[in-house]
This record gives sequence, C-alpha cells and structure tokens, in this order.
Amino acid sequence: MAKRRQLYEGKAKVIFEGPEPGTVVQYFKDDATAFNNKKKGTITGKGVLNNRISEYLMLKLADIGIPTHFVRRLNMREQLVREVEIIPIEVVVRNIIAGSLAKRFDMPEGTPLPRSIVEYYYKADELDDPMVSEEHITAFGWATPPDLDEIMSMSLRINDFLTGLFLGIGIRLIDFKLEFGRVWEEEQMRIILADEISPDNCRLWDMNTNEKMDKDRFRRDLGGVEEAYQEVARRLGILPESGPGDMPGSDTMQ
Ligand SMILES: Nc1ncnc2c1ncn2[C@@H]1O[C@H](COP(=O)(O)OP(=O)(O)OP(=O)(O)O)[C@@H](O)[C@H]1O
Ligand SMILES: [Mg+2]
Repeated sequence: MAKRRQLYEGKAKVIFEGPEPGTVVQYFKDDATAFNNKKKGTITGKGVLNNRISEYLMLKLADIGIPTHFVRRLNMREQLVREVEIIPIEVVVRNIIAGSLAKRFDMPEGTPLPRSIVEYYYKADELDDPMVSEEHITAFGWATPPDLDEIMSMSLRINDFLTGLFLGIGIRLIDFKLEFGRVWEEEQMRIILADEISPDNCRLWDMNTNEKMDKDRFRRDLGGVEEAYQEVARRLGILPESGPGDMPGSDTMQ
C-alpha cells in the first residue's frame, strides 16, 4: 500500500490521511503516557489491543444508535474512521469516585456516586487540560448549548450501555473519557463519537477482586499492564484468534 501522509502524531496514536475524502486512519501505538506526558513508557501490544477493543465497543455503540467515527479496521494496528473536526473538550463520565476526583475532594477511591457525574476538560496539554464548565464551553465558542445537550445525552447513553456490557463480563466501569467531533452531511452538521474507547481512557475494575484492569496499572507502577489489557480483550471475546504466535508484542504484526 502506498505510504500515507501523516497528519498528526499524538501520544497514543498517529493520524494518517485516509484513502478516501472525509476519512483518516488511526494508527494505535504502544506508547503510553500519564500525567500529561510527565511519565512515559511503552506497553507491549497495547496498540493492537486498543485497536480491537475500540473497534468492538464502537460497533456495539453503533448498534444502539450512537453515531461514531468508526468505519472499519484495516489491520492489527490501524482503523479507518471518518474525519471529524474534534470538539476540543474531553468528556469524563464518572460512576464511582477515583483518580483526580478522589484527590480533589480527598474522598476514598471506590465510593459509588449517588448518580453519574459528567465533567468537561478543555483539551490543551500546555494548560494541563483544565476542567471547564458549560459556561466556559459556550462562552468561548467551543460548542453551543444544543451541541452540549447532545454530547451530554450521548455520553449518558454510552455510560448506561457500557456499564451493562462490562458488568456482563465481571468488570465495573468506574469512569471514562470521550471525545466528540463534527461532520457535515449535506450542509447539516452532526456530532459523532470519535477518538477511542479502551483501557487507556476507561477505569475498569474486576468486579470480584477490585483489581485494576486499565492504565492506572501503568500510572501507578502496579505491573501486569499488558496482562490487564489482554484480560479485558479476552473477556470481551476479541483476542486475536490464532494463538500465541499472533499475540500482541509479536513484531511480525503491522
Ligand atoms: N475521527 C477523527 N478525526 C480527526 N481527529 C481525530 C479523530 N478521532 C480522534 N482524533 C484526534 O486524533 C488524535 C489522536 O491521537 P492521540 O490520542 O495520541 O492524541 P493525544 O496525544 O491524546 O493528544 P490530544 O491532546 O490531541 O488528544 C487526538 O488529537 C484526537 O482528538
Ligand atoms: Mg488521546
């Protein structure tokens, strides 16, 4: 295949020009960063697993009517997606207290919230992604009030669905981050789910042991990071079929 033009290199993925207008290719790297790039490393096979996990979850969400950017998986590390204009907001949905919420309010991790909380952060690495309110988002023109209503209602539906899906495989969905983008169809703007849904941006705890099965294992040096991502993929039923030779980490894979 002809070499693709690189449009953007992020911390976890590279975005290439797609084969047809209005598409881009997401290439999933093994690179891992935490605390806004202050901690760096690699998680062998992560890219392969996140590509598969995100494909699986986006397809399931499409089945329940959530519009997503996912078009099709191209190979072990790449997927074709619709090109969007990213809304520069990270939407965080929380069901159980953990991470920065636990820290800010000095509350124990693992405490269930009486109801799910949606938070917004402005995507700006140089500012450490500051938390913002709907007022900031609309005042600065990042999204309109109707855009935000749609983002909020999609995020809550995604939360309900994913909570159930993970419960079914013995995993508690503690919290997760979403990104949305705009596409235009016959002059009509639509907001669709973009980026990825994977253990890089979800907190997933084993229902019985409370063991962490997500990027917190990397952030907190808990070890067993690859194994945790693999276990999520295994429970979802999507580990590569052809046995150990084809497992993440094998260099022969694209
Ligand atoms: N469908 C899409 N079309 C265009 N850009 C997208 C799409 N989906 C995701 N992106 C953007 O592509 C980039 C993916 O790379 P990566 O996740 O590695 O970025 P990052 O290092 O987390 O940086 P950023 O702060 O920009 O998210 C992100 O900037 C994300 O917002
Ligand atoms: Mg990212």
